[in-house]
Amino acid sequence: MQTLGQFIIEKQADFAFAKGELSRLLRDIGIAAKIVSREVNKAGLMNIYGETGDVNVQGERQKGLDVFANEHFISALSSGGECCAVASEEVNELIIIPGGEKAKYVVCIDPLDGSANIDVNVGVGTIFSIYRRLDLSVPVGVADVLQQGICQVAAGYVVYGSSTMLVYTTGKGVNGFTLDPSIGEFCLSHPGMRIPASGSIYSINEGNYVHFPDGVKRFIKFAQQENFSSGRPFTSRYIGSMVADVHRNLILGGIYLYPSTSAYPDGKLRLLYECNPMAMIIEQAGGKASDGFRRILEIQPTAIHQRCPVFCGSAELVEKAELLMHWHS
Ligand code: AHG
Ligand code: MN
Ligand code: MN
Ligand code: MN
Repeated sequence: MQTLGQFIIEKQADFAFAKGELSRLLRDIGIAAKIVSREVNKAGLMNIYGETGDVNVQGERQKGLDVFANEHFISALSSGGECCAVASEEVNELIIIPGGEKAKYVVCIDPLDGSANIDVNVGVGTIFSIYRRLDLSVPVGVADVLQQGICQVAAGYVVYGSSTMLVYTTGKGVNGFTLDPSIGEFCLSHPGMRIPASGSIYSINEGNYVHFPDGVKRFIKFAQQENFSSGRPFTSRYIGSMVADVHRNLILGGIYLYPSTSAYPDGKLRLLYECNPMAMIIEQAGGKASDGFRRILEIQPTAIHQRCPVFCGSAELVEKAELLMHWHS
């Protein structure tokens, strides 16, 4: 069984330009993921359930585990020496890593995805996105994290579910590793992950139906219509943690949607540390990721915490949703 560490070292040869920094950065993220996984597993025994009383830049009430995960990932990224700046969901401004002047990489991170599920023992996750810094001769700044998603050099997520898995891509396919708690190592369990071209699962918070654009309402009706030959009606599955919902659909085939709503005209999910990394993984696995009209990875970001509608998953289903958006908006 190959461990994440062994796999990363073996794959380092794929990057003629790199001198091992990206490998070390990925390894540091893996270590932080193990620490967070350990804490998630005993969250009920620690004092990290519930709210901290603070509100983050998104206007969301922070949970103890949001703060814990944020601190651990930032500390892993700071101590490794390969990362010069971090954009985190939980921190308003870009975090400049002290002593990271010569580091080549910047990271965008959703330290704990699915906060609403923490207190009820339902799967949560972490999402990360890595870019090369634009210019080593000038101090790192916001422009370094406002790169298009197509410029990501790596992206991944950790799902803390019935087991803990780390899934990542460096642009050469997607590989998944399951944490073996008995040896404390992520072991390669899902090599070369591919999303089925179609599927029969649709994942959306249907409680927001009245606020959805017409194209999305039409897609939901399409998913619910009886059509035996195309496997409809589809199955509805929505956990409320993007990582867990997308991970399931990646394995089984399906579509995940968080469109614009009247409450969130740009959708709810954040481009830099939710949509872009998940889009890179889905595309690398053979699927598609769109904002309903455009490829997510080609959107030019303008702000760290900007939001973006997301339609991602099996290519055929995303194309169908895009078609309905085009016709009915
Ligand atoms: P986070 O917990 O990182 O703030 O992300 C929450 C996101 C995402 O995980 C999830 O899919 C979505 O919010 C759920 O939103 P709704 O409760 O509006 O369905
Ligand atoms: Mn949040
Ligand atoms: Mn999230
Ligand atoms: Mn989060």
